[in-house]
Amino acid sequence: MAPVITTVDDLHKIYRRRVPKMFYDYCQSGSWTEQTFNENESDFSKIRLRQRVAVDMEGRSTATTMVGREVSMPVALAPVGLTGMQHADGEILAARAAEDFGVPFTLSTMSICSIEDVAKRTSKPFWFQLYVMRDEDFVDRLIERARDAGCDALVLTLDLQILGQRHKDLKNGLSAPPKLTPATIANLMTKVGWGLEMAQTPRRFFGNIVGHAKGVKDASSLSSWTAEQFDPRLDWSKIARIKEKWGGKLILKGILDAEDARMALKVGADAIIVSNHGGRQLDGALSSIRMLPEIMDAVGGETEVHIDGGIRTGQDVLKAVALGARGTYIGRAFIYGLGAMGQKGVTKTLEVIHKELDTTMALCGEKNIHDVGPHITLVPKGFAGEWETPARNG
Ligand code: GLV
Repeated sequence: MAPVITTVDDLHKIYRRRVPKMFYDYCQSGSWTEQTFNENESDFSKIRLRQRVAVDMEGRSTATTMVGREVSMPVALAPVGLTGMQHADGEILAARAAEDFGVPFTLSTMSICSIEDVAKRTSKPFWFQLYVMRDEDFVDRLIERARDAGCDALVLTLDLQILGQRHKDLKNGLSAPPKLTPATIANLMTKVGWGLEMAQTPRRFFGNIVGHAKGVKDASSLSSWTAEQFDPRLDWSKIARIKEKWGGKLILKGILDAEDARMALKVGADAIIVSNHGGRQLDGALSSIRMLPEIMDAVGGETEVHIDGGIRTGQDVLKAVALGARGTYIGRAFIYGLGAMGQKGVTKTLEVIHKELDTTMALCGEKNIHDVGPHITLVPKGFAGEWETPARNG
């Protein structure tokens, strides 16, 4: 009998059994001690909700907009590298599930399925996430390819000029496709369903890179590609150049500081994503949800503020919206669904999250997502201001 799936965690358990260790570990890691990775999730549980009663709950709506796009709930699929290694044709399947559900899908630069592949196999525009490389021509070509594919927003990631160290990826020798060593072969032999599906697709390489970038030595390894190609000189002037080159909606991802949020505003971002890259970059940074109120205070009235990091339930989505986020992104939560059950699994993730969001909103006494605000929450004193930068001595 098929298992009854009621939570994202149910999908996580199936995902873990089904997908090779190397890709499971890639998804389920933060950098170094994983403090930030863990706190992204645990800080959501510190926020409590106010129960309200005797409020008419009929005719509820979670629909809103994110950078002008109508969405059925304030959730987008985050860009996740190597998604096509979690399940054969993963990016295409996830994009289709997002499209059917009425939420945006964001394709990573480091995807397996290429921009053109996803565009050909979907019918609504998706968003494209860009990493800035040293090779400016290559960056410009990626921007043009995204425009030609009809992408209606560019998500520019700012927090990964160099790659944070995730121990498991180094120990596993992470690559796409996996390199065959005694350890990987032994593990792959236990992942028959994954392997049979993967054998039937030609999409097993970084589709936006292989065949498009010049002088690439090892395009199968994320860590060597980042070390060789990502531009460590990325600064606000380069961001302005990219904004001009793109000419469309620009979302800046990886803002975790009020000062950077103000800079993003100055450069003309249509939205920012409060993010620490899912705890995968600067370990020891505060969680995204904890930083949200301060960033809202700095720029909230002037640009859309989105958030990612630690969102695994519809309650997390509601809490982020209550503290001011216009939209949220799920990364791991949709990867669990994808790895567990392909497109159906991503749809399941979205259904679970929508149900949790809608039910919680109702029990908090609200029937329209636009009316949700801090008044529905109870937040520990100092949640946002517990940590401060000490004054310089002497
Ligand atoms: C980026 O692609 C990452 O691995 O976090």
